Amino acid sequence: MKTLLITRPIAEAVIDQARELFDVTVSETGALDEAAAEQALQSYDAILPTLGDLFSAQAFAGAAGNMRCKMLGNFGVGYNHIDVAAAKQAGVLVSNTPDVLTDATADIAMTLLLATARRAGEGERLVRSGNWGGFGPKDLLGTHVTGKTVGIVGMGRIGQAIARRCHFGFGMDVVFYNRSAKAVDFPATQLPTLADTMGAADFVVVATPGGAATTHLIDSAALSAMKPSGIFVNISRGEVVDEPALVAALETGQIAGAGLDVYENEPVVPDALKAMDHCVLLPHLGSATVETRQAMGQMALDNIIAWSNGNVPPQSV
Ligand code: DGY
Repeated sequence: MKTLLITRPIAEAVIDQARELFDVTVSETGALDEAAAEQALQSYDAILPTLGDLFSAQAFAGAAGNMRCKMLGNFGVGYNHIDVAAAKQAGVLVSNTPDVLTDATADIAMTLLLATARRAGEGERLVRSGNWGGFGPKDLLGTHVTGKTVGIVGMGRIGQAIARRCHFGFGMDVVFYNRSAKAVDFPATQLPTLADTMGAADFVVVATPGGAATTHLIDSAALSAMKPSGIFVNISRGEVVDEPALVAALETGQIAGAGLDVYENEPVVPDALKAMDHCVLLPHLGSATVETRQAMGQMALDNIIAWSNGNVPPQSV
């Protein structure tokens, strides 16, 4: 029987199915650092890793010579924690879990957009503090969302799902920035530059993949293109944003607010962000519904089963 390491507890039904086919170990000690990833590569035939497990080039290099693993079935659409080039060189296949988390992640983008615009975090804290004095015509006034312009940075599957929600749900105009030309089947205008998009939008939502190509794509220059009334939302990867530059833009009033689900050094969230009432901060909840996490687990396992049966994993990256 092949051995399979599942690096974090996932849906029990998926683990039960895995146990019928593999000799399964479920790790309960949190994300694998580089040394643990290297050891895992030497110890298991297949691994079902997720965000935070550091399958870096160094981990693959360290495991070389004693490499046992042939398949990484990643739990998550984002795989920037896996050096895919190093994996390929080491003969390790990698798959991910696209599509199944698109709607859940788009919903979290809308949650952040609305919560930031309507000051829902502040309001919730006020009620819980016991200091709410009742309805006030000028209290906690936010920004209207309906009819405004959203700028999507990265018009992939998740970007499009967010844009659809904005357009069809909130009557918003959609502009977007995407590295390649992208045709979409709803009204939306692709703008030539990132700065054009950031500058045209009342709400900017970042939905790019992570990785070297997008690291610090949103820097101080990009943020300075935004309107002072603009609200910034990130549901992609923390490293896409230069976090100190974002903190500065918020502190100086260069932009009006931010809704964030992801951070540069998760789980570390800068105190400066936590101190600012005009930020809504979530703990990487993008795909966190029971249904979505179950589907992600199933897809990751299905890819590992395909590999085990000698087939090409359907969601190979
Ligand atoms: C993903 O799938 O990449 C998410 O960020 C993890 O929920």
